[in-house]
Amino acid sequence: MTQKIAIVTGAARGIGLATTRLFLRESWQVAMVDRDEDALLEAASELTGVLPIVADVAKPDAVRNAIQQVSDHFGRLDALVNNAGVADFGPIEETDFARWRRVMDTNIDGVFLMSQAATPALKETQGAIVNIASISGLRASTLRVAYGTSKAAVIHLTKQQAAELGEYGIRANCVCPGPVRTKLAMAVHTPDIIAAYHDAIPLNRYGTEEEIGEVIVFLCSEKASYVTGQIVASDGGFESTGVGLPSLRGQS
Ligand SMILES: NC(=O)c1ccc[n+]([C@@H]2O[C@H](COP(=O)([O-])OP(=O)(O)OC[C@H]3O[C@@H](n4cnc5c(N)ncnc54)[C@H](O)[C@@H]3O)[C@@H](O)[C@H]2O)c1
Repeated sequence: MTQKIAIVTGAARGIGLATTRLFLRESWQVAMVDRDEDALLEAASELTGVLPIVADVAKPDAVRNAIQQVSDHFGRLDALVNNAGVADFGPIEETDFARWRRVMDTNIDGVFLMSQAATPALKETQGAIVNIASISGLRASTLRVAYGTSKAAVIHLTKQQAAELGEYGIRANCVCPGPVRTKLAMAVHTPDIIAAYHDAIPLNRYGTEEEIGEVIVFLCSEKASYVTGQIVASDGGFESTGVGLPSLRGQS
């Protein structure tokens, strides 16, 4: 059996680390890309079948170098998971250009740069791209002017990739996680926001890193060989639901 290789960005912790573990369980090998060197090397030291690569996905030179390292080490690439992301919630009037750029750099430029650099290798294997957006890219909310807009852009970029790269047999799909208690979420989810999410989610809870990772690994696998251009929310039903859920829940 051919050894399958994935790149997971933002793999040092959270959803990216859980996804890396799930790939390893499925006998893939993983290039773990992250800009947090200490966290990355510590996470990678506990795993076998991984190549840690310290890189900032928002920097074109670092991206080119990372893809070259994957090619030198593994000689092939079957899937790219663009998971690295940053969250910064703030009002429109307080989101100065530097804050806006910080979010866009990683969340949208990083996805574009990594995907473009990985395309020649993915053409050879008819591989897959999975981009991680967010429910904040599907439904607008307050304080997410940069974050929500960056994630909506990731959703559309995925469709652009599917439209153009399908020609080469490359599939591109997008996963929109609901809230997961990672370092990223806990830095911006106040007690009020946590309570509001519970109210708005039919399954009435946060998701786990593994519940998101399972969807990502499925979309990268042969099991999803005819699935491309899709936006899959792994969100406990958040996106499908309108007003009235908490009151109806109270009556049941
Ligand atoms: N946790 C949630 O509730 C939630 C909800 C919806 C979407 N998401 C998305 O899921 C993805 C993963 O989030 P998480 O909660 O696991 O976050 P996290 O903060 O726990 O992990 C993100 C990782 O990405 C790395 N990273 C950030 N910017 C980078 C860059 N420019 N280059 C390389 N590495 C970089 C960080 O160092 C970190 O290790 C993000 O795209 C996030 O927007 C998360």
